[in-house]
Amino acid sequence: MKTLIRGGTVVNATGRTPADVLVDGETIAAVLAPGSTLLGFDVAAHVDRVVDATGKYVVPGGVDAHTHMELPFGGTNASDTFETGTRAAAWGGTTTIVDFAVQRAGERVQDGLAAWHEKAAGNCAVDYSFHQIIGGVDADSLAAMDSLVEEGITSFKLFMAYPGVFYSDDAQILRAMQKAADLGLLTMMHAENGPAIDVLVSQLLAQGKTDPYYHGVARAWQMEEEATHRAIMLAHLTGSPLYVVHVSAKQAVEQLAAARDRGQNVFGETCPQYLYLSLEEHLGAPGFDGAKYVCSTPLRSRAEGHQDHMWQGLRTNDLQMVSTDHCPFCMKGQKELGLGDFSKIPNGIGSVEHRMDLMYQGVVTGEITLERWVEVTSTTPARMFGMYGRKGVIAPGADADVVVYDPAGHTSIGLGKTHHMNMDHSAWEGFEIDGHVDLVLSRGRVLVDDDGYHGTPGHGRFVKRDLTQYLV
Ligand code: URP
Ligand code: ZN
Ligand code: ZN
Repeated sequence: MKTLIRGGTVVNATGRTPADVLVDGETIAAVLAPGSTLLGFDVAAHVDRVVDATGKYVVPGGVDAHTHMELPFGGTNASDTFETGTRAAAWGGTTTIVDFAVQRAGERVQDGLAAWHEKAAGNCAVDYSFHQIIGGVDADSLAAMDSLVEEGITSFKLFMAYPGVFYSDDAQILRAMQKAADLGLLTMMHAENGPAIDVLVSQLLAQGKTDPYYHGVARAWQMEEEATHRAIMLAHLTGSPLYVVHVSAKQAVEQLAAARDRGQNVFGETCPQYLYLSLEEHLGAPGFDGAKYVCSTPLRSRAEGHQDHMWQGLRTNDLQMVSTDHCPFCMKGQKELGLGDFSKIPNGIGSVEHRMDLMYQGVVTGEITLERWVEVTSTTPARMFGMYGRKGVIAPGADADVVVYDPAGHTSIGLGKTHHMNMDHSAWEGFEIDGHVDLVLSRGRVLVDDDGYHGTPGHGRFVKRDLTQYLV
């Protein structure tokens, strides 16, 4: 199957240019001057399908490097399966996800990874890969890290939060980072001081402060700044590159910036919720509504300026990319577990469908440029996690993961409008986007067009990743 996407503006992280894109089978065969004639040869006459992209942007498919499909967490399971979650991703122009395989204390890393392969294989609409959560650092799990690179898993996540669940103490972190430095693995860190947070949680609950709002009070920015600093120091000592996930506090960005200015290979990801939502308006919503917005790290105070600082960090490259941390739970039967006790609300927000749109709105409002939109949602995740060349770029030889985005279109987010995630609510209800995902190709195959959805479970393939291609 040969497809010509004609008349659009191709946007890569490096710039934009009017060009036509020729797709042959699963890959991009050529990026051609407008008009698609080559040495007198009319390319359009020799393809199976011509897509008119006049007035539209032609961009690489989104790469969401932080999702949790079917994650067992908080006494329940994240409500999107690999099937429903990747379908929603496709609707929103995301053509690759990187999910987290889980190993807990006492379990074998190999078993955790095998379990995630089993959940995903044959079910995904878009391509997928895994990071490895090491939730129990010990001699066995450290030894098991040796084989991750040959499995195509080149990054792993540790938690300074969630004692008794995924938590690692400083000694465990040090050992795992030493191993990562030897192997070239990228250490991803959930940077919040879990034991101190647990003390604040008990004290708040004892004072009768049980509403979702207090989730944000207990997980104060000092908890994130302190842990971020500690992680940076341990990474510095060991020589392991460090990637801090879901950064929400401006003080944490300052820690990352200072380390980067010293030349240390540390990176930060933020998420749409930390750019748009706040402690006051969302976690503090009336009644139990704030439960929709319980995630960790938490939403931060708008009065303190964290959201503006996240946008600034994206502009200055103190934050390098935007993932969703997609971890959806329904209100009914899931978030409700925390009625009367905010600490029992399963942590997570669902956004995999809306990241490309929400970040494009940042282009409309002047927060980031068009090229930076592509860079933070596709190119940098691909480079950071060893997929660039195949993913993250419109160029000959790349996988034909292509989105045609209409800047004159409009998207209204919410239930009954553009909602395909397996959730009974949307944290993004009422958000209006001045743009629209018109066409989504995954390895040359149309997943979404004007006629709707054409994807199938099992089209998505596991992506074996190389070592990180991104350094300060
Ligand atoms: O609230 C969140 N972030 N839930 C998912 C688990 C994690 O820490 O990423
Ligand atoms: Zn986390
Ligand atoms: Zn997460």
